Amino acid sequence: MSQEKSLKNKPVATQCRGWAWLRGSLVSVLMVFGVAVLTTACSLGNSVQRLSPEAALGEKAFNDLSLSASGRQSCASCHSAVVGHAAPNALAAQLGGADLSLQGVRSSGSLRYLATNKAFHFDAEGTPKGGFFWDGRADSLAIQAAGPLLRDIEMANPDKASVVRKIANATWVADFKSVYGVDVLNDVDSAFDKLTQALQRYQLEDKVFQSFSSKYDAVLRKKATLSAPEARGLALFNDAAKGNCASCHTSEKSANGDHPLFTDFTYDNLGVPRNAEIAANSKPTYFDLGLCGRVDLKARGDLCGAFKVPSLRNVALRPVFFHNGKFKTLKDALVFYVQRDTHPEKWYPANPDGSIKKFDDVPLKYRVNVNTKEVPYDRQPGDAPALNDAEIEDVIAFLKTLNDGWTAR
Ligand code: HEC
Ligand code: HEC
Repeated sequence: MSQEKSLKNKPVATQCRGWAWLRGSLVSVLMVFGVAVLTTACSLGNSVQRLSPEAALGEKAFNDLSLSASGRQSCASCHSAVVGHAAPNALAAQLGGADLSLQGVRSSGSLRYLATNKAFHFDAEGTPKGGFFWDGRADSLAIQAAGPLLRDIEMANPDKASVVRKIANATWVADFKSVYGVDVLNDVDSAFDKLTQALQRYQLEDKVFQSFSSKYDAVLRKKATLSAPEARGLALFNDAAKGNCASCHTSEKSANGDHPLFTDFTYDNLGVPRNAEIAANSKPTYFDLGLCGRVDLKARGDLCGAFKVPSLRNVALRPVFFHNGKFKTLKDALVFYVQRDTHPEKWYPANPDGSIKKFDDVPLKYRVNVNTKEVPYDRQPGDAPALNDAEIEDVIAFLKTLNDGWTAR
């Protein structure tokens, strides 16, 4: 079976959609008690969702292991619905390639809440914004999808023609032809582009990618209230003199009432420590330079070391954090934030003379780019961290309210 799918593990919206389809085709056969319960749950939750044929096709492709050179990897392998469409394991970078032995160089982030992200651009003040990937190099979800299909360390197809041959053998090839035309497979470039468009349509249309169903959303709708620790955490998150988190991870509704995405889609250089778990880092001259690692931004030394601000929705579900997967718990990620400058020896290796190699994952000449001015990074050794331990626990309690699929108990 080439589809990496299990109804059991799917979020309610998708289960219900699966059921809506089943109901259409197999209704008389399946009128048993369990199915009746599912119908009721779906109508009560009001979450029956119909995808357009193009998006439904994209969903099949997203989950299809046979689209990879190994035959064992789909988009869902690195972006699992169970953890908010981030990687389902604690590897800093996932393995890919024809025999799944090649390690990537970055963590595979969440695919949720990207629908309103724009192509990479510099805004009126010259601030870099938007784009897909940690360095924003893909302009759309469709362009982005071409990346893993062809990349040697991911799904590893040698060329577009081999992807199109896989489409021709896929269980859903009839759907592909019915959406894009019977002759679609005759033109390799066009067929490949259509596949990436279907993948994009799926991510834009399926509500699971932007469900706004967290407890925090319910609070914004005045249908729930935060517990005392969660409310303290939110206040610390927003307080410009404490966490100051909301200055990049937007937490308030926009002027037109849209719920916040917990990112402003800008970039910043946090000086996250080098991660020895990423094999590429064993070469001392190798650095992941983020924005200025892009061919088109090579000349922008000021942008070296900057990575995209990720959405914090579903962050508590993620097994690894930051572009290089350096931290494995939310607690460690947050302690790093507030103690990076007060206790640098905890995060960075020592030089032979005993001094600390602060910001060791940024080449020496670019270390000035690391953000050391804004709260919570504006401290010195000896200062008190911006948040103490109890305050960090409160922020974590708040971050947990950003998980999708909250229901009142
Ligand atoms: C081997 C693991 C792997 C596979 C398979 C994979 N991805 Fe990814 N994905 C990643 C990594 C790693 C990144 C971040 C890479 C970077 O920033 O350079 C990423 C980033 C993305 C992003 C950008 C997210 C953002 O915040 O900008 C999207 C969208 C995405 N992947 C979709 C897909 C789709 C669609 C597929 C299937 C065609 C797929 N991925 C297959 C590992 C994977
Ligand atoms: C000046 C902008 C800025 C501020 C302020 C900020 N962040 Fe971030 N945050 C970022 C950027 C940029 C990244 C990604 C950095 C990287 O991977 O190199 C990030 C990543 C994270 C991650 C990892 C998420 C993931 O998916 O890997 C967490 C958790 C996080 N931030 C929480 C917080 C909290 C909590 C605060 C407040 C204490 C905060 N941030 C303040 C910009 C900011």
